Amino acid sequence: MSATDLSAGNGTDAEAAHPRPVVAVVLVAAGSGQRLGYGMPKARVPLGGEPILMHALRGIVASGVAQQVCIALPAGDGALRRMCDDFRNELVDGGPLLTVVDGGATRSESVRSALAVLEEGTQAVLVHDAARALTPESVFHRVVDSLAAGALAVIPVMPVVDTVKTVKATSGNDARIAPELVVGTAPREQLRAVQTPQGFDLDTLLRAHGAVSGFDEEQGAAITDDAMLVERLGVPVHAVRGASQSLKITTPLDLIIAEGLLEGPLGARWVEG
Ligand code: C5P
Repeated sequence: MSATDLSAGNGTDAEAAHPRPVVAVVLVAAGSGQRLGYGMPKARVPLGGEPILMHALRGIVASGVAQQVCIALPAGDGALRRMCDDFRNELVDGGPLLTVVDGGATRSESVRSALAVLEEGTQAVLVHDAARALTPESVFHRVVDSLAAGALAVIPVMPVVDTVKTVKATSGNDARIAPELVVGTAPREQLRAVQTPQGFDLDTLLRAHGAVSGFDEEQGAAITDDAMLVERLGVPVHAVRGASQSLKITTPLDLIIAEGLLEGPLGARWVEG
């Protein structure tokens, strides 16, 4: 597919006001899934009878926002590659271009591997965790709408229900009392829990990831999302409403919740807000 073949948009009034960018979705699925305890990469773990990766892929394609989906898989995982090939064949009516790359040792490396193979003509990129396999289509649309309206960076967020404190490890006498000591309490009304897909103007995201080459190992390991790299450039990062259904499936409890969402009365995509 050439850049000029990449059609965009669906002809709505909103689109007339803000032309849709040519969007690629980077789906990072190269994690080990150790915390899930299944002894296999998380993308392969079954959820409602289908691997987590397939739920994530179907959600992206159903949203209709992407002209390309680039999936970062654990290096050498033949089973997941075959799954992507089969899904490509399923997209009989065309659908987005599906590309597969080997992921890296960290999430951020996996993102960069995918960014390196995006089609010429791509204007915006959504970076999405495969672990957020049940993300509703509406979240993809809110992110793309914000990019179309001029945002260079936009993230879906949720209010925080817990009070959040910063702590430090204790030593000496304090360590005999408890392993950590509270250092501060962040005002809860200003806090947001951050989800994916995170949307970016492509050039901005490339610039943000370009800075990582100067990072040491510790700094590299501390990159937990893409927006934090864009923040370092001084580029404003906008926030739109996420969804509770976009939970990141990380622990066995998350998997139980995700199974429950799938079995809910209205199926996978019913919980909003
Ligand atoms: O483990 P973490 O919470 O950072 O994983 C978030 C997402 O990043 C998951 O979808 C996981 O598959 C992906 N990831 C990746 N490459 C890595 C580590 C994580 O694509 N090396």
